[in-house]
Amino acid sequence: MVEAASVGTSGQQTRLIAVCGKGGVGKTAFTAMMSKVLLDRDRTGRLLLIDADPAKGLPLALDVEVKRTMGEVREEIIARSRRANREQKTQLIDMLDYMVLEALSEQEDYALLAMGRTETKGCYCPVNDLLRGTIEALSQDFDTILIDGEAGLEQINRQVMRRVDTLIIVSDATSRGLQTASLVKRMVEEENVIECGRLGLVLNRVQGNEELVERAAQSVGVEVVGFIPQDERVAYHDLIGKPLTELPPDSPGIVAVGEIVDRWILSRDPS
Ligand SMILES: Nc1ncnc2c1ncn2[C@@H]1O[C@H](COP(=O)(O)OP(=O)(O)OP(=O)(O)O)[C@@H](O)[C@H]1O
Ligand SMILES: [Mg+2]
Repeated sequence: MVEAASVGTSGQQTRLIAVCGKGGVGKTAFTAMMSKVLLDRDRTGRLLLIDADPAKGLPLALDVEVKRTMGEVREEIIARSRRANREQKTQLIDMLDYMVLEALSEQEDYALLAMGRTETKGCYCPVNDLLRGTIEALSQDFDTILIDGEAGLEQINRQVMRRVDTLIIVSDATSRGLQTASLVKRMVEEENVIECGRLGLVLNRVQGNEELVERAAQSVGVEVVGFIPQDERVAYHDLIGKPLTELPPDSPGIVAVGEIVDRWILSRDPS
């Protein structure tokens, strides 16, 4: 078990939660609904959402305008450092914190950081390391961090942070979704792509066949922490571009995510 190293504004350990899974299974919808639930519970402290998907799904689901992505910050650093002398390079490193803060979209009750795309080809490991270090330092100013990731965990590990407390794998009720969940488990447990304290599987868009789906999910070997039903309000909000954080508290998706948060996330907090 990996213990959290950073401490948020409340003086308690920062909760680091990442969401991953196959494309299109509902990772972003789940992350957005979980943000709403966490904000409603009043035990979240300062919340930072990190969109680790280059397609910027989370800002769209929350209707947040992103002025600058971390990908753009990275491009600027690479371009500037190419023509910088040693002294200017040092100044550039001193400016990193400021550049990352500029990329932070501050909302009324949370902040959002979008990783965006990386255009420049080639290996810029030192730049990635610098930026990841800056994000890790920034994360200490928050009490809860929720990352909307991709199926592969490399993006999170390389550009966001090397470890999380909780990794939630989202799958739909298909064998392909569950196969990806098995791959994620292997990446964590055998390939150590990312350090994580615990793994949970959430089954999305499940309607009336929970028992059958749970039996199929047992082959993955990850604890099933909850089922989320098909929720027409989620589909409707996404259709008209209304933030998922504005879903009514009694909508089936929000109720289901609320149960997962209470039973699996908040119940483990030290009181
Ligand atoms: N429980 C649900 N009920 C109804 N619609 C849902 C539900 N979960 C997700 N959807 C819909 O499914 C679609 C895909 O969801 P979402 O974008 O969250 O998936 P994703 O895993 O983030 O995809 P990507 O891999 O492209 O980032 C969206 O149109 C969303 O509105
Ligand atoms: Mg997404």
